[in-house]
Amino acid sequence: MEYPTILIFLLAMFVLLTSAFSSANAKICEHEFVVEATPVKRLCKTHNRITVNGQYPGPTLEVNNGDTLVVKVTNKARYNVTIHWHGVRQMRTGWADGPEFVTQCPIRPGESYTYRFTIQGQEGTLWWHAHSSWLRATVYGALIIRPIQGHPYPFPKPHRETPILLGEWWDANPIDVVRQATRTGAAPNVSDAYTINGQPGDLYKCSTKGTSIVTIDSGETNLLRVVNAALNQPLFFTVANHKLTVVGADASYVRPFTTKVLMLGPGQTTDVLITGDQPASRYYMAARAYQSAQNAAFDNTTTTAILQYRKSSVMKPVMPSLPAYNDTNTVTAFSRSFFSPRKVEVPTQIDDNLFFTVGLGLNRCPPNFRKNRCQGPNGTRFTASINNVSFVLPNKISILQAHQLGIPGVFTTDFPAQPAVKFDYTGNVSRSLWQPIRGTKAYKLKYGSRVQIVIQDTSIVTPENHPIHLHGYDFYIVAQGFGNFDAKKDASKFNLVDPPLRNTVAVPVNGWAVIRFVADNPGAWLMHCHLDVHITWGLATILLVENGNGELQSIEPPPLDLPLC
Ligand code: C2O
Repeated sequence: MEYPTILIFLLAMFVLLTSAFSSANAKICEHEFVVEATPVKRLCKTHNRITVNGQYPGPTLEVNNGDTLVVKVTNKARYNVTIHWHGVRQMRTGWADGPEFVTQCPIRPGESYTYRFTIQGQEGTLWWHAHSSWLRATVYGALIIRPIQGHPYPFPKPHRETPILLGEWWDANPIDVVRQATRTGAAPNVSDAYTINGQPGDLYKCSTKGTSIVTIDSGETNLLRVVNAALNQPLFFTVANHKLTVVGADASYVRPFTTKVLMLGPGQTTDVLITGDQPASRYYMAARAYQSAQNAAFDNTTTTAILQYRKSSVMKPVMPSLPAYNDTNTVTAFSRSFFSPRKVEVPTQIDDNLFFTVGLGLNRCPPNFRKNRCQGPNGTRFTASINNVSFVLPNKISILQAHQLGIPGVFTTDFPAQPAVKFDYTGNVSRSLWQPIRGTKAYKLKYGSRVQIVIQDTSIVTPENHPIHLHGYDFYIVAQGFGNFDAKKDASKFNLVDPPLRNTVAVPVNGWAVIRFVADNPGAWLMHCHLDVHITWGLATILLVENGNGELQSIEPPPLDLPLC
């Protein structure tokens, strides 16, 4: 080789080696998602359902903490679609978050968009789902994040790992179900089944053949990664005769604790260890509703899968008992068992102290509406709001694009930090407060702001346990309780030492929860109830986090293939 060639060669080797070392084993994981209608047979009937790659549930993605995901999504369905990576922090990559008209315009039929993002500092179980209308009923899957390559779990290595995706099935097209509800103003039809890994299980008609089987060997300890992917229902989950040791939730580790039963609000995940310490046999794992709203219709069926010891005969599985549908005490005891594994850094000084009421409402029938469009209670239409603002999505461009490009008229930044009027939130609320205003309002946060949000349930129409999810962030749940939050009395109960880190908090029915986080991720972040019926009715808002100083505190430029509206 000539002298300059050698020099270039050495330089190239140097660049290659340093980049290999600096990325410390982190990989780029590429996937293709084709969203398409697929025949799926459940409850004796075959329906065309929107799926990813023809799979229901969709493909499980497996990565290590530190990896980069590149997922090309092609829409071959007849609906607009977007994909959200539920719980992924998306540091500076808000363009890949996915909620339609919040961070992107939808991917139109025939179009595609490639989501690119890096998993940073998160380990455990997350999931992905469609974030457009009610498509997530069938468009969802697990996102498993193992420790940084070469690092162990903070618990004995399980012999097996199994995702347990809890879902909800309608004997009708879910898009038609929500469209009908939007037309009539009434509550949407409840589902016909719950599912475990896409299968209703033995207690439903025509379902025995497909029942999911989870294998275990005597003496081994397995990791179940439980996800509540149901649309509208918090669920209890249990396994007959076995204890569950909770080790993680929402892709953060927790201080291990043992329980008979889990409760997950939609959006939440819980990682549990289960040991094969029972006679080699067959045991049902089962899930059914936790229904905190009184007098509201709900699907009261039970989904099952079978935990099967390897050397068991084909005998009838043992059925576990589940808590009563309205067993709030069990839910409270369960949620109070969550702690971070060690002392954590919780913001103690607060810059933005917010108080958000969350709940339902009823709109009077608009004068130009026919009677059949007002089939809510007493001729009204259902609605929902945060601080009396019922959120309306834009439809011409996304909020993040409007923010980045300075396009006016898409949203306003006057979302109230407090409800305009104080009232007895969990008491007998005057009818004059049941009708929120509509708006596309965001609350602005400076980069680095230390934020506290008190999330207060209201008893308007009915109190209810709301799973409140914040995009782009994990937050500490520093306290929760019942009744009206009282700053004087309740601040003394805050856990500022080792509170759990979550992305979705199940706010106690007729109660409140307090969350804290540092606004260190610029972007437009949707905060909403993860009951899809409530987001449909407007139980949502936007936290708009401004850029800080310099590139590393600013959102990346938008990808070139970001869908056009
Ligand atoms: Cu899991 Cu806004 O969503």
